[in-house]
Amino acid sequence: MTLTDHQRLGDLKAAVQDLYRRNRQQGHAAWCDRDYDFVCPSVERYPFQWFWDSCFHAVVLSRLDPERAATELRTLLANQHPDGFLSHVTFWQRERHESAVADYMIRWRSPWLSDSMQPPILAEATAAVARRGGGLGFLREVLPAVRAFYDWCHRVRDPDGDGLIVVLEPHETGMDQSPSFDAYLGIETATPEAFAAAWRSVALKHVEVDRRSERVHAADRFMVADVFVNTLYAENQRVLADLYAQVGDTVSADELRSRADRTAAAVLTRCWVAEDSDFHALADETQVPLPGGTVAGLLPVLLAATSSHVVDGIAARLRDRDEFGAPFPVPSVARTHPAFRAGPTRDLLWRGPTWINTNWYVARGLRRHGHAGLAARIEDASVALVERSGFREYFNPDTGVGYGARGFAWSALAFEMLVSRVEGDRIS
Ligand code: GLC
Repeated sequence: MTLTDHQRLGDLKAAVQDLYRRNRQQGHAAWCDRDYDFVCPSVERYPFQWFWDSCFHAVVLSRLDPERAATELRTLLANQHPDGFLSHVTFWQRERHESAVADYMIRWRSPWLSDSMQPPILAEATAAVARRGGGLGFLREVLPAVRAFYDWCHRVRDPDGDGLIVVLEPHETGMDQSPSFDAYLGIETATPEAFAAAWRSVALKHVEVDRRSERVHAADRFMVADVFVNTLYAENQRVLADLYAQVGDTVSADELRSRADRTAAAVLTRCWVAEDSDFHALADETQVPLPGGTVAGLLPVLLAATSSHVVDGIAARLRDRDEFGAPFPVPSVARTHPAFRAGPTRDLLWRGPTWINTNWYVARGLRRHGHAGLAARIEDASVALVERSGFREYFNPDTGVGYGARGFAWSALAFEMLVSRVEGDRIS
C-alpha cells in the first residue's frame, strides 16, 4: 500500500459514486407489476439490466452501499423463471428504449426477458453482498433462488453430465464477437453484417426446434463448452458451496463442491491443448477444440487446481509482448492472432482491446497462485485506464485510449481492484 494508492482511491471512489448515481434505473414495471432498482451498463447504449454486468455492479456497490447492492441482486432475481433460469437481459423499461431493441439478434422468452444466459457469476456477487453488509439474513433470503439458477445450468446446459456447461449462442459467453467463434459461425470477413446474419441464423434455429433443450442440443449449429464460461462456472459453484457451509447446510455444500471440482477438472483436462499450451472452447457433441489465442484461455489461472506449471505458462504469456504483454494489459486477443486489432472494429467486441472485468479475474487468479507482482501490474494498468480515459467500455492495449460506450459501469471494477489493495478485504 502506498500513499499514492490512497490518494488515487479518494478520487476514484467519488467518480464511481457519481457513475452509479447516473446509471441508476428505478421505477415500476407494469408488465410484471414490480419495482426495479439497478445500475445499467451504460445510459446511452445499454439501458437495461444485463445479468453479468449486474453481478459486477453488485460487487462494486457492496463497497459503496451494501443495501443498494442487495437491491441490485433482488432486482436481478425478481423475474427468475420457474425452471430456475435467469435471463441475460431484463428489459425492464423497454417501452422507453424500443430503438435499442430493434436490431438485437437474440432469443426471447417474452418481450421483456431474453432466452439467453450469460457467464454464471451470481454466486460471487451474492458472496460479496453477504460479506459486506447483507450477512446471513441476506444469504438465507436469496440462496434458494441462486441455487435454482445453478441447478438449471447443471440440468439444462450440461445434458451429458461431464461437468461442462454449453452455450448456445456466441453472446452467451459474454464475449460477443470473439474470434474463437468466427470459423465455427462461418464468418470469413468480420463485419457487423456478417455477424448479424450469423447470429440471426443461430437464433432462428432455436425457434425452429421450439427452444426445447433436448432438440436444441440435437440440432443446434452453435453448441460450445466455452473455457471462460466454464472456469467461472467452476469458481462460482465453489463459492456457492462455501455460502451453503456458512448457513450450515453441509449437504448442499458438499454436493456443490463436488460439482465445482468436476467442472474444474473438466476444464483443466478437456479444454487443455498441449500442442499450443492453451485452453480452448470445445464445439458440438464431438467437442472439437475451437481456435484459442484469446483472454478466455488465460482464465483457468483462477482455479485452485491449476498446476503451477500451467500457471507459470499463463504468466509467461501475460509478460510476452508478442502475446498479452501490452502497455495496458490484458488485450482480449493475443497480438499473434490474425484477428487482433488494438483499436475498435466497427462496434465488433472482444477482438483485441482490453476490458476491465477480465483484468479483475486474471489479476485475482495470479494472486491466488503467488504472482502478486504481475497481478499488481494489471491492477495498476486498469486504474490508469479509467483515470486517463474514463469509464469506457474497452480500451486500446497499446495507447490506453477508451472506446465503445461511455459511463460503462463494470469498468468501475478498477475501483474494486484498488480498494481491495488499500483496505484489504480482498475477494480472493
Ligand atoms: C456487450 C458485452 C457483454 C455485456 C453487454 C452489456 O454485449 O459483450 O458482455 O454484457 O455488452 O454491457
